[in-house]
Amino acid sequence: MMTTAKWTEGSRLFWLLTLALAAMALGLLFPAGWSTDGYRLVIRATARTSLLLFLAAFAAAAAARLWPGAFTHWLRRNRRQFGLSFAMSHLIHALAIFTLWRSDPDTFWTLSNKGSIVSGSIAYLFIAALAATSFDAMVRMLGPKAWGWLHWAGVWFIAISFIFTNGKRIPVSGWYALPVALVLAAILLRIAAKRRRRVPAAA
Ligand code: HEM
Repeated sequence: MMTTAKWTEGSRLFWLLTLALAAMALGLLFPAGWSTDGYRLVIRATARTSLLLFLAAFAAAAAARLWPGAFTHWLRRNRRQFGLSFAMSHLIHALAIFTLWRSDPDTFWTLSNKGSIVSGSIAYLFIAALAATSFDAMVRMLGPKAWGWLHWAGVWFIAISFIFTNGKRIPVSGWYALPVALVLAAILLRIAAKRRRRVPAAA
């Protein structure tokens, strides 16, 4: 039987999202110029796409449990693709940061400091480890227990990083409260889904 691969499922979805991220970065860099302004636009835009893709992966299973339906099941089915696309978006974040640091170190150091680089680098180590172990062969190699611990620690570290990186910018603009609220809402969703799973077992 011939099956038609869909662009909204599996690895094709990942490549579609990667293409969209690359188009977004180039679409910002060409008009703004391959300069400080352009790199800063890419850093900010990818921070936002990363958050949305991360939330899709982070909340997918809980959303499908609380509100079963075509959309939430699609999210859950493709959560690995959203996780990998989040890593891709954050790779572009890193490339733009590196380019900004090389081309305009003064601006880079007004926007960043050693403390954020240490915590950001730990988050990047987790992102790399999660992406590298998001394949069935790696899950088998690590074993379910180690894999479960790594992914539990990784996703929570990243969720908290998003709360801090956005939260510290709230004094600059109240709009940064929105991403903080989105991460907190996703955390509440996961807690609610976990409680729902426990109720029938207790009853
Ligand atoms: C060593 C690692 C990292 C460095 C050096 C770094 C650097 C930067 C810089 C310089 C900006 C400011 C861009 C501007 O205002 O023009 C920025 C923005 C941001 N970064 Fe990163 N980053 C790192 C890792 C991360 C990680 C791991 C996360 C989240 C998990 C993150 C989330 C954000 C967010 C939310 C913004 C604000 C975007 C906005 O304005 O909407 N960063 N980063």
